[in-house]
Amino acid sequence: MTVHHAGPVRDPALEARLAQEPGLAGRAIFAYREVPSTMDVAHELAAAGEPDGALIWAERQTQGRGRMSRKWESPAGGVYCSVVLRPSRPQAEHPQLSLVAGLAAAEAVERLSGLHPSIRWPNDLLLDGRKLAGILLEARQDWVVLGFGINVTTPLAQLPEGATSLAAHDACGAEPYRVTAAWYEVLQTWYQRWSRDGFAPIREALRPRLALLGQIVRIAVDGRGEMEGQALNVDEAGRLLVRLDSGLARAFDVGEVALLR
Ligand code: BTN
Repeated sequence: MTVHHAGPVRDPALEARLAQEPGLAGRAIFAYREVPSTMDVAHELAAAGEPDGALIWAERQTQGRGRMSRKWESPAGGVYCSVVLRPSRPQAEHPQLSLVAGLAAAEAVERLSGLHPSIRWPNDLLLDGRKLAGILLEARQDWVVLGFGINVTTPLAQLPEGATSLAAHDACGAEPYRVTAAWYEVLQTWYQRWSRDGFAPIREALRPRLALLGQIVRIAVDGRGEMEGQALNVDEAGRLLVRLDSGLARAFDVGEVALLR
């Protein structure tokens, strides 16, 4: 009896097109017209042994997901991808990769378009206060999958309120393949730096791009209600330091909280 694999089918033409981008040449690329979520494909490939750096990419997703079990609208016109990483640093530091990826996204957008997105800790890219892109980090056994979603030419009518796209900001140099390659390339540079030197250089590069510092933020702590305070800084471990109304400063772990508007 033949057992048919029911998973999504790779698209060689898309893979060849992506591999033409200088930043992606020679990389392991798995590209699809449509998948439920590139995160799931990436976890499956990682479980089957794909090494550090494999890129999983889709034109559309039917079940794109964001942090805190939110949905990530994924119509054609955006970039939806995931990268398998097998970090050499201790597991406790892996959440910092969310910030490494956010920094890479901000720099990639800047390089391609001259726009200056800010980073809303821990993982959102904003342009004029609207959400342009998001990063999702999921750790399993001995790998991490970093997901990256960015609205490139996506019509705003197909996106949630408060979202924006590169095209809406006249970023004419930005099309999905180039955006993917730019993010991937900058991510590799910062990932290598982080692997070697830890979070300190990332923190330095992030600081001028952080949208929140000095602002009053509301933080929803899993199962423990909400707290308000002033965002002071990102500490040496990547946590957000907040001065609470009580006057006490507290550090919030990446992934522990959500920032509400
Ligand atoms: C967030 O802002 O909450 C994170 C959004 C992450 C979306 C990307 S799109 C590619 C990858 N696949 C998914 O299902 N999610 C991530």
